[in-house]
This record gives sequence, structure tokens and C-alpha cells, in this order.
Amino acid sequence: MESLHRFAPHVSDRAEAIRPFVVMDVVARAKELVAAGHDVVRLEIGDPDLPTPAVITRAAEEAMEHGDTGYTQSAGLPTLREAIAAHALGAYGVTVDPADIVVTQGTSPAMLLVFGALLDPGDEVIVSDPCYPAYPNYVNFLGGVPVPVRVRAEEGFRFRPEEIRAAITPRTRAIMVNSPCNPTGTVLPAADLAELAAIAEEHGIRIVSDEIYHGLDFSGASRSILEFTDRAFVLNGFSKAYAMTGWRLGYLIAPKPFVRACEKIQQNFFLCANHFVQVAGTVALTQAQAEIAAMREVYDERRRYLVPALREIGLTVACEPTGAFYVFADARAWGDDSLVLSRRILEEAHVSVAPGIDFGPGGEGFLRFSYATSLERLAEGVARLGSWAGENAG
Ligand SMILES: Cc1ncc(COP(=O)(O)O)c(C=O)c1O
Repeated sequence: MESLHRFAPHVSDRAEAIRPFVVMDVVARAKELVAAGHDVVRLEIGDPDLPTPAVITRAAEEAMEHGDTGYTQSAGLPTLREAIAAHALGAYGVTVDPADIVVTQGTSPAMLLVFGALLDPGDEVIVSDPCYPAYPNYVNFLGGVPVPVRVRAEEGFRFRPEEIRAAITPRTRAIMVNSPCNPTGTVLPAADLAELAAIAEEHGIRIVSDEIYHGLDFSGASRSILEFTDRAFVLNGFSKAYAMTGWRLGYLIAPKPFVRACEKIQQNFFLCANHFVQVAGTVALTQAQAEIAAMREVYDERRRYLVPALREIGLTVACEPTGAFYVFADARAWGDDSLVLSRRILEEAHVSVAPGIDFGPGGEGFLRFSYATSLERLAEGVARLGSWAGENAG
């Protein structure tokens, strides 16, 4: 009989190194409270409460009935890739070769393709601190090194170019950009994108631009990094602006020398995105613009309510967020430890929010509020937090 110790569980160092996403614990606890009969106001999650536009769901139903249920080309349906290229031309005035697009099951797998194609062990990627936590986790997982560069609330969470320059080393391969940004709601001005593109060109490194929140911009349409350089990677997807999180559809646009590598990763690891979902995605790009604009209006109304309401109950929002559906509020008036604070607020006020520390040390002391929920629920959450703060904070 084989000795038992041979079966002692060993989880790989690579997997052990992934930082848990604490907000998922908040979600789990919020669900427990709901199951126990409590009414919890859920402001922690970036999942649109609005339904996917009917024109898109109908297209998926028809595609399924039509038999679009098998594998497609690994890089995606030609019709969808052409629609993505047409969207890039219409929205940003940039010409993208459909052959440089790989369709993926969401933006998340596209990160594996991009960083998988870019990084050798020890290669560095500059990320903002705070940032969407998957970026450093993907970079680490693939043997790279995330290099955080602070962005500050009072400066609208914009990079300081001199700090980017100082962070560049011979091992730097890319600068990660995310505008509109999760968690801060910041939309980078065109001049910042142009400067980042110029720095990247100067040093022969790439920009990886996560543009998933494009379409959810409230001060004018967001600009694509491809307007400033054709050597960048773009990540995008349908989850947010199209309210399609559960459909799992995204894509990347890669500089030509990297396309084949990205395709090989896609072929081997994912085969392709769902056939009928790709058909629906084509319709989303070409026939759902009115619905997308209407959803943007709804989010904007919530944003215009939430920012002053949070300020009124004692939180600091130094710079108006103008994109995505988040407010990243400085909560140090209530407590310095965002994890402790978010847990207390959940247990005592039954409002769930994301702790800022989840997004990096630069997020400590902040709480992220998602307004992907109705105005009524937002108002209820704010009222509860106001009472809680009156009794507990300060
Ligand atoms: C900045 C950012 N990028 C990517 C994703 C993941 O998107 P997808 O659903 O397309 O995988 C999210 C989801 O919250 C996000 O906030």
C-alpha cells in the first residue's frame, strides 16, 4: 500500500500566491444575512442590475434555434470581428484589422492571452495602486512582477508621468491603463493617454488598455489608447455597458507581432467563445446603441444622486467620478481599516460595500460603492449608513 504522505495536499506556490478577493467574502456574508431573513443593501458588486437589452437576447435565442451551437474559429466569428473593427472606426476613428482581434469569453481570459504573450519570468508590468486586482494576480501567475505606481484621490487618481518614468526598468514590458477605472470611476483625459503612449513609445514598452467601461462615461465619450498609438493592446468586453456579465464575451486587439501568440493560447486553453453568444455580441455592437445610451442615462442619474449623498453623510469624494459605475470614497472619517469598516457596516447597518484595501495599499481607508443598483436601494443604503455613522463614527 502506498504511504499516505504521498497524497499530502500540495497546492502550487503559483496558486497560493493569488491574493483572495476580499469582496467575495463580503458577498458571501451578505448572502448569508439575506438567507437568514435580513434585508441587505448590496452596493459591493460590479454587476449591472439592468437586464441585457431584448434585441440582444432575441438574437441569442434565434442563433440557438438556428443551430449556432458548435465551435467557431478560435479567434472568433469573422462577422463579430468585423463588427468590432467597425465599432473602433465609428467610435474612435481608428482602423483595426479584424485579423488582429481575438474574441474571448470575457475580458478576464483576454488578460491571460495578453500577459501570456507579453511576459517572461521576471518581466515587469506597471499597474496603478489602487487598481482592479486581477491585473497583478494575472501578472504574478504568469511569472511576471507587478510594479504598483500610486494614484491619489486629490489628483483625480491620475498617474504622475514622472512616477511612471521612475518605475520603468530594463525589465518593464507594459503599463496597464484602465479608463474609465474600477475602482475609482476616473476617466483619464486624452492628454494623459497621449502622454502615457509617448512614454511607452520612448521606452519601447507596451500599453495594455482595459477599455471594458467604455460606454459608461458621463462627461463625453472615452478615448481609446489606439487613437494615440498602434502598438498597444486593447482589452474590452460586453459585460458592463451592454449588461452582459453572465454571457461571458470579450475581446482583445493585439499589435500584429503578438496576434499569433494570443491565438495559440486561445486555441489551446479556451478553443473559442460560445457561438450563439458571439452572434448576440454582433447584434449588441450593431443594433443596441439606443438601449446602451438609455442605460448610461440611468447610471448617470444614480451617480449624480450618490456622490453628493455620500459627501453629506461624512465621506470624502475629492474628485467627481465620471465613468464606470463606482464611487471610491475616502472613509477615514469613519475608520482607517477598510476591511474592518466594511465588515462592521455589513453586520451593523446591513449595507455591503467593497473595502478599498482589496484594490491595493493605495486604496486603504476607502470604500467602493457600486451604483449598479436602483436609486431606491441606493437611497436606502445611504440612509442606513448615515444613521450608522451618526451612532458610531467620528
Ligand atoms: C476593470 C475590469 N476589467 C475586467 C473585468 C472583467 O470583465 P469580464 O466580465 O469581461 O471578464 C472587470 C469586472 O469587474 C473590471 O472591473
